[in-house]
Amino acid sequence: MSLDAVQAQDGLKTPCRVPAGISVHYYDYDLESEVVDLWNESFPRRFTMARRLFRQNTALDRNFDTATAFVARKGGELAGYASGKVLREPVGNLGLLPGTGWLSTVFVAPHLRHVGIGRALVRSVLESLRSRGANRILAGQDIWHFFPGVPASCSGAARFFERLGFKATGACAFDLRGNIADFRFPPDAREYVRELEGSYAFRPAKSDEKQSIIEFFAMEFPGRWLYEVAEFFERGGAAEDVIVACAGSDIVGAARIYTRDSAVIGPSLYWLCDRADGGGLGPMGVAAGHRGKGLGLVLLSTALSELSSRRVTVCNIDWTVLVDFYGRTGFLPWERYLAYECGVAAEAAVRPDAAPQHKRVV
Ligand SMILES: CC(C)(COP(=O)(O)OP(=O)(O)OC[C@H]1O[C@@H](n2cnc3c(N)ncnc32)[C@H](O)[C@@H]1OP(=O)(O)O)[C@@H](O)C(=O)NCCC(=O)NCCS
Repeated sequence: MSLDAVQAQDGLKTPCRVPAGISVHYYDYDLESEVVDLWNESFPRRFTMARRLFRQNTALDRNFDTATAFVARKGGELAGYASGKVLREPVGNLGLLPGTGWLSTVFVAPHLRHVGIGRALVRSVLESLRSRGANRILAGQDIWHFFPGVPASCSGAARFFERLGFKATGACAFDLRGNIADFRFPPDAREYVRELEGSYAFRPAKSDEKQSIIEFFAMEFPGRWLYEVAEFFERGGAAEDVIVACAGSDIVGAARIYTRDSAVIGPSLYWLCDRADGGGLGPMGVAAGHRGKGLGLVLLSTALSELSSRRVTVCNIDWTVLVDFYGRTGFLPWERYLAYECGVAAEAAVRPDAAPQHKRVV
């Protein structure tokens, strides 16, 4: 469908200038492999996209809607892709976050850049999100996200978003990397182990503890982390991919870990998911009433030790600002993500539209 037709269907007033010879269309699941190929031509190698990851974060995410995803074409050639999301189901106690939308990703074929294709794609996404009631759009950070912000190593991406009216909030977050082949507890973690012995136990969760894990997250981290762990179990995730800290029979801390065998490609594993020795950690958290006693460092060390015993050598910890904390186990920044957002005029919000509902691949 051409952009004109899209605009006619969505009832949008403002025309979006599309560069000559370029057309913008709704994304369709049939385009998945073509779009993944273009992703891999467009992004730096460190963000190599696996098709199953792309599918997980688009077609398999109930929040994804082809009505907020677009491709650009130059004749028969795929020139670019951009997609956005609004929540279609509540995320823990955050609910549906009405008014908020996310631009999940945008990319343009390297040889077709700087002619306005990225702008036209983002504009299409923003209009479609606005027509679904969103008036505040964040770059990345969506549920089943690709990026927790604008990656600093995508040169020019931050400037591009600024040119499109996005503002840096000043916040930034990191992905950290560590080599955990033969991981050993650092000396300070060993010290804490001695202090905590008898009061706390640290171990992979057992298969009958899924409900207790969900209750722990519901009590201590009732937003996105609760949603994500419940989704993980719903998709067949194993309890042993959660490392727990226990006080007697109570779970008082939990660390999520991922390997290639995990039922879901967790965000910490995204960019290592095709490596047999790749692993991921996060999120992890300790109950508010048990902080400040070393549980966090012991839980972290236990989780890394478990990953190491599962033959993980390179491990990623995603979307964190706790560089010093994780640095105590040898992790260093691997990527920095900058938070960008933009407001879109509210007057056009809540427009009924009749965008197509393409069949899902599953
Ligand atoms: C970022 C990207 C999508 C831009 O696509 P594009 O089609 O070249 O962008 P446009 O031609 O629509 O540019 C729109 C504006 O942004 C500016 N801009 C685009 N890329 C820029 C860059 N690398 N450096 C500085 N400014 C840039 C343009 O000059 C233009 O500014 P103007 O308002 O003065 O005309 C493209 O470079 C890309 O695919 N990068 C790799 C993937 C990526 O980093 N995506 C973003 C993270 S999700």
